[in-house]
Amino acid sequence: MNRRYFMQRVAAGAGLASAMPWLSASRQVLYTRPEPRGAGGLDRRTLRLNANENPLGLPPSARQAILDGLVEANRYPFGPRTELTEEIARMHGVTPENIVLGNGSTEVLQMAVQALGGASARVLVAEPTFEDVPQYAAALPGLHVEKVPLRPDWAHDVARLRELSRGRRVPVLVYICNPNNPTATLTPSGEIDAWVAEAPEHVYFLVDEAYFHYVQDPSYWTALRHIQERPNVVVTRTFSKIYGMAGMRLGYAVARHETAERMRAFASDNNANHLVLVAARACLHDTGFMKESLELNNRARQVLYQCLDDLGLEYLPSHANFAMYRINGDLLEFIERMRERDVLVGRPFPPMLGYNRISIGLPEEMERFAQHLREFRRAGWV
Ligand SMILES: Cc1ncc(COP(=O)(O)O)c(C=O)c1O
Repeated sequence: MNRRYFMQRVAAGAGLASAMPWLSASRQVLYTRPEPRGAGGLDRRTLRLNANENPLGLPPSARQAILDGLVEANRYPFGPRTELTEEIARMHGVTPENIVLGNGSTEVLQMAVQALGGASARVLVAEPTFEDVPQYAAALPGLHVEKVPLRPDWAHDVARLRELSRGRRVPVLVYICNPNNPTATLTPSGEIDAWVAEAPEHVYFLVDEAYFHYVQDPSYWTALRHIQERPNVVVTRTFSKIYGMAGMRLGYAVARHETAERMRAFASDNNANHLVLVAARACLHDTGFMKESLELNNRARQVLYQCLDDLGLEYLPSHANFAMYRINGDLLEFIERMRERDVLVGRPFPPMLGYNRISIGLPEEMERFAQHLREFRRAGWV
């Protein structure tokens, strides 16, 4: 299902049977309540564990860069764009021609679908996975999306995806979200490497590394190593997660120059504003903030795991700033009950409707969430 479309339908509170065909009518109504609001938006007590954001907020260095950058905000951001692109390229050992900036990494995912999908591509995605790529593909007539369930170890089913990509003359676009959203699980990088090495050039790999910085597992490494050699590999990254800038909107792709050029043709001109460009530059130098984000995430995850262990609720090993755990009950009821307690938790990810995705906030926020979960257990709801 298309996430943005789903959200619009929920917001409109209409036509939900078609937006959520897998739900009964009563459940659909349950999921249509608006988010709790206080003066100026969400209530300040509202615990936002629903969108995998960085709970630390904007890095202080980025705040300062934004303030300093305001004097130039009346100008087009040509200079800061060039500087940031050069800096990202240097960081990855490539040239600026290899970098495609986007209004969030979601825009570069969209560019990849438009540029590489062609008129009649097969788009192969895992199920469940982050919804944006299948959503963008669905909007293009002629693109055919095929969903392949994750393996029992929650990795992408590389063998099955590989099989589906064979014998096709039309372009095949394979979306590999690693770590995967919503499961926070890994697909071993060695398996991806082996497939890339033997794949023909009309099989494109779109590797989404939005949560790259959180991973500490030796079986995982970036797919950036293929960029110089292979025009059919695109890696995407974002400033929305470890860098704490989801509301600022900036992401990028790294690809070989001719592939990057094809993608850029679908970008709007100056798609990143002056303030986000200078803030992103500050973030790249702020290794302290990144370290702090990681440490806090690890500590807060332990608080979550402790509670889930105590309650005997199964969870998937998390390699990111969110986790998927079993709720032993009705998911929409669970979401609504949490919402009544001012806690926003992850949306449904069919077909994993027995699980909830929870974003990892600050340790004290996870304590608060854990208290509610324990209360739910006492009530017999989980
Ligand atoms: C796997 C993945 N990719 C991409 C995005 C989009 O991020 P943004 O557009 O904020 O860079 C998200 C956001 O949650 C995500 O989970």
